Amino acid sequence: MEIAVIGTGYVGLVSGACFADSGNRVTCVDIDAAKVEALCRGEVPIYEPGLEEMVKHNLSVHRLMFTTDLASAVEPAEVVYLAVGTPQGDDGSADLSALWKVVEQIAPHLQKDAVLVTKSTVPVGTNARIYGMLKELTGRDCEVASNPEFLKEGAAIDDFVKPDRVVVGVRSDRAADVLRQLYEPFLRTEHPFLVMTPESAEMTKYVANALLATKISFINEMANLCERMGGDINDVRRGIGHDSRIGFAFLFPGVGYGGSCFPKDVRALSAMATDLGVEPRILLAVDEVNTCQKQVMIEKLDKHFGGKLSGKTIAIWGLAFKPRTDDIREAPALVLIDHLLEEGAKVQVHDPEAMDNVRKIYGNKITLCDLEMEALAGADALCIMTEWNDYKRPDWDEMASLLRAPVIFDGRNLYEPERMQSRGFTYYSVGRPGV
Ligand code: UDX
Repeated sequence: MEIAVIGTGYVGLVSGACFADSGNRVTCVDIDAAKVEALCRGEVPIYEPGLEEMVKHNLSVHRLMFTTDLASAVEPAEVVYLAVGTPQGDDGSADLSALWKVVEQIAPHLQKDAVLVTKSTVPVGTNARIYGMLKELTGRDCEVASNPEFLKEGAAIDDFVKPDRVVVGVRSDRAADVLRQLYEPFLRTEHPFLVMTPESAEMTKYVANALLATKISFINEMANLCERMGGDINDVRRGIGHDSRIGFAFLFPGVGYGGSCFPKDVRALSAMATDLGVEPRILLAVDEVNTCQKQVMIEKLDKHFGGKLSGKTIAIWGLAFKPRTDDIREAPALVLIDHLLEEGAKVQVHDPEAMDNVRKIYGNKITLCDLEMEALAGADALCIMTEWNDYKRPDWDEMASLLRAPVIFDGRNLYEPERMQSRGFTYYSVGRPGV
């Protein structure tokens, strides 16, 4: 099939590469000329395992192309994917300005039978509005479909080629058939292709992310209660997870969820509800609990140091919002760094992938260390903010000798509290007994 993908962000790039890899001819379009040039050379601007190899291979066999020329990509395309950003606007709702601009620009170039598919996360009703706009601009009934993306950063290719399910929202059987053909290589009995209306598909994406975010805020609140009541959230998690109605997934407490999806989507769904005069009580609470959870490490640090962080040196391991990505959008580590700098502390950080992104924000206000152990030199405490494998089995003696004081604030529960005590560390974690 001949496909155009508009927008080479996370979703557009991964989708484009995977569709090319399964035998289609894919042209990806972006307005950023420098990015397009780099992509043409096979240079991928994000860290995503396996993506650069896949892009390079499909470039070399001419199944994947990159261009800034929208018209030449759209004209031959049987399927046009919209994967432009829909960031959070000032009022919490999704900002669709990039999307509307693209719809307007592609209208004169769309083939009569082309299916225009929205992959960007968009408010419920957007596909109907795109259909209306295209009717006005072209005078035709264009095929418009919603095909939300559920991939996780760090596992994006695997999630794309082995999706738990594919959701498409369509108005016609023809659009459903075209998309089913496109996804055929990735479907299995246990990975179904679900056809519904565009509104249901748009809603599915928000509901999935909102429920996952709810699980995290819920377990974080329970972890905070455990700390006060004396329970151990790890035991509680095991205790509830064996109930098949509950399960284990997405119930790890931590320093709050970040990333490009959960915070934005929870707020966008809230904004949609509020617009309709409905108070989204659970969604508001999920967001609020998460904002507070990003402060939990700060509160523990403040308490430990009696509110006197000025002049202290604090080491941070992990800056990305989760492991296996260089993405720092809404990362809890940034909230901590801001607080430490405000209080006059010296900050020494390490992350296996996210350092370049952090450098762009803080420049030389913090010390970026190439090796995790370097970050500990002379530090009054270590804070762990992302559960990279690199941090799971450190050399305890080396740590103790480098740190000025053997104090660890572990926001991801990487170590056993009892063992840490016997190793001589003052160890704070989330929702478990100890200090
Ligand atoms: C998420 C959804 O999983 C994906 O389906 C959607 O398309 C986009 O948003 P992603 O943002 O890549 O994907 O990250 P994910 O792995 O889901 O983690 C999100 C955040 O939740 C991270 O900050 C992570 O640390 C946190 N988290 C996750 C927890 O704190 N506890 C958990 O148990 C699970």
